[in-house]
Amino acid sequence: MEIKKAIIPVAGLGTRFLPLSRAIPKEFFPLVDKPVIQYIIEEVKKTGIKEIVFVVSPGQKTVLDYFQKSPELEKTLVKRKKDKILKELKDFEEIFEDITFSYVVQKKPLGDGQALLQAAKKVNGEAVAVSFGDDVVDSDEPALSQLINIFNTCSAPVVALKQLPREKLPAYGVVAVEKIAHNLYKIKKIIEKPELSEAPSNLVVVGKYVLTPEVFQYLKKAKPSDKGEIILAEVFDKMLSDGKVIYGYELKGEWLECGDKLKWLKSFFYLALKDPRFKDELREYIKNLKFKI
Ligand code: UTP
Repeated sequence: MEIKKAIIPVAGLGTRFLPLSRAIPKEFFPLVDKPVIQYIIEEVKKTGIKEIVFVVSPGQKTVLDYFQKSPELEKTLVKRKKDKILKELKDFEEIFEDITFSYVVQKKPLGDGQALLQAAKKVNGEAVAVSFGDDVVDSDEPALSQLINIFNTCSAPVVALKQLPREKLPAYGVVAVEKIAHNLYKIKKIIEKPELSEAPSNLVVVGKYVLTPEVFQYLKKAKPSDKGEIILAEVFDKMLSDGKVIYGYELKGEWLECGDKLKWLKSFFYLALKDPRFKDELREYIKNLKFKI
């Protein structure tokens, strides 16, 4: 089963970024000079996938507008002889030229699983790649390609995993696993935000997956929680208790989280301090700061 589509849910509330997220959806926060979402689209493109389905909240058009061509701006740049900027704009537009974007609307933010369910009609019984809008991975091989490689040999859902220091685990979905090969596991259970003493491993779920049609069947059958939410991790857990196989793959690369203020700031610094255009000046600037760090 070839993977032709990627779903990117961007309909969450982003409450951890208030007040900024009232003005800008968190997927459009900058990482150096590009919005977070662009890193994710570039990752999808590198995997060879050409169809992207966004799950957006009602009225949130920023994500679709961002990837549109801007002929008016091009004309203005030509008139003003801004050749260098014009080239940059054309290079940017070229990145997305061969990708088709579409969207579905999630009327209310009722969970990541409910967001994916809205895209079910676009899936047509195929396996799909999924990336949340706030998880970037800096790696040689794109994170989604790493997952797709596993899917190509096992034809079952694949969940991206990363090791974290123990003290961080209670803020994440932590998996109980059986190791089957280098970086590859069978997931036995997913425990959302466990007490430290109950964390079954140091491996946590990253917001990147390959989902099979069966996952969508389970999403359709899932009973919403008391709060009306459908959570993907809970749906996986139901599949596991029914004896279904779900693989976990420990990603190679640096996980740049952008889900809260501190994580986003760290990801920003990581990329800025690596960027050949800025790194020397930035290091110098930090070294010469008047206050102690
Ligand atoms: P998060 O768990 O980060 O939730 O979503 P959130 O609502 O965006 O942010 P907080 O917790 O209020 O700060 C993970 C991914 O799932 C999407 C988000 O946009 C993000 O890409 N999501 C989440 C939806 O599309 N819909 C939802 O109902 C929930």
